[in-house]
Amino acid sequence: MSTEANKLQPAFNPGKGEGQAVGLAILGYGTVGSEVLRLLNKHSDSLAQRAGGPIQIKGVAVSDLSKPRAGVDPELLTDDAYSLINREDVDIVVELIGGIDYPRELVLAALKAGKSVVTANKALVAAHADELAAAADAAKVDLYFEAAVAAAIPVLGMLRRSLAGDQVQRISGIVNGTTNFILDAMDSTGATYEEAFAEASRLGYVEADPSADVEGYDAASKAAILASLAFHTRVKFDDVYCEGISKITADDIKAAKAAGQAIKLLATCELITNDSGESEISARVHPTLVNRSHPLASVSKSYNAVFVESEAAGELMFYGNGAGGAPTASAVIGDIVGATRNKVLGGRAPGDNTYANLAIADFGNVRTRYHIDMKVEDRTGVLAEIATICVENNISLRTVRQEQYPTGTRLILVTHTAREADLARTVDIIAASSAVLGVESVIRLAE
Ligand code: NDP
Ligand code: HSE
Repeated sequence: MSTEANKLQPAFNPGKGEGQAVGLAILGYGTVGSEVLRLLNKHSDSLAQRAGGPIQIKGVAVSDLSKPRAGVDPELLTDDAYSLINREDVDIVVELIGGIDYPRELVLAALKAGKSVVTANKALVAAHADELAAAADAAKVDLYFEAAVAAAIPVLGMLRRSLAGDQVQRISGIVNGTTNFILDAMDSTGATYEEAFAEASRLGYVEADPSADVEGYDAASKAAILASLAFHTRVKFDDVYCEGISKITADDIKAAKAAGQAIKLLATCELITNDSGESEISARVHPTLVNRSHPLASVSKSYNAVFVESEAAGELMFYGNGAGGAPTASAVIGDIVGATRNKVLGGRAPGDNTYANLAIADFGNVRTRYHIDMKVEDRTGVLAEIATICVENNISLRTVRQEQYPTGTRLILVTHTAREADLARTVDIIAASSAVLGVESVIRLAE
């Protein structure tokens, strides 16, 4: 039991003393950074009461000093983030730049210099959590990142504190607002993927690199963070199976609607039992058919929601703004208050507890259900041929529907739960069958 990974890392930090000021460096003054500064200034008196001492902003690092900026004293601005971090009067560094490599260097430099760090950067945390946590432990300082998952929705605090005594079994989350907006627009207006994507871009939802949203990478980073905290095991971005929404068509949405379902990009983090009876973790992101009666189906626009199934608490649902300047700043400032309190009163928040150190399940062994939509030849024996392929590959069919479209005959199969590897192989064999003119879509179903 006594390994490096399972230490709770208690640490002694005597604190500066109640009422003492704490110095803050903000790295990044974009969508989130500017709102953090605005709210810190607006509520400075009450935040000082809550944190145990005044929070003083010592500087704001940006990349381009020539940009016109409202809401910030020009004296505070710098393009030298390292010098700001290393100032003696800076106790806490707030990283709101984004990306991975450069913020990783900045955050490590801050931690090594004994500064507590607050970040909203899911990509950084999902890729380098081990290294960052070790640096925070070595320096006996805090590393907070509540805003990294679902922004304003306090899901990480819920896992770290509220459910600390329970056994989480599954988390199913809509954790990317952009893709939820696109899927919801396709569902509610009949828009094509391209039209819905264009509207999401017009509204400023889509990330600078759109693949972060539509190919599921942003959601996969968030799934890694959620799974790590839920199952007390380090889960990294690369451990998460990831499929985005860019292949979802208006026909898929229409068919789902007709069957009483909605398509959502779900991040699913699950504790599963392998064939040897051992617990493993499955973390995956993919488009998922959700029954309209499920609370996640009604999450519209760019909202996020996280549905938790836990042994003692049962089912819990958390809903709200998962993006945007002010909602994200709300979570960042909550973390700043926590880090300030520790700097003033002493002690530190416990680091991530990875004592369970469970294996990550091979995705091929994960059990899921498929909805398979294919164009087939309109002749006798087609159904029997497809059914035989399924039986030969350990796939049991739950429903089979044949529909006549102007473009030809469609066969829609819904399978029972089966091993992902068996399902994927079956689809490949079906696609190569002479009876099949094309597999139109394969979408997994929620459990
Ligand atoms: P923005 O792109 O709006 O802002 C980034 C800021 O970082 C800018 O002020 C930019 O400077 C500054 N910056 C870039 N490079 C450097 C550098 N080399 N040195 C110093 N400053 C630099 O990003 P967001 O505010 O949207 O996002 C910030 C973080 O918050 C990201 O990690 C993101 O994933 C996360 N997040 C964002 C959410 C959102 O809704 N926007 C929601 C949840 C998390 P300049 O102004 O000069 O260009
Ligand atoms: N691009 C992200 C989203 C921003 O759409 O949810 C918040 O992390």
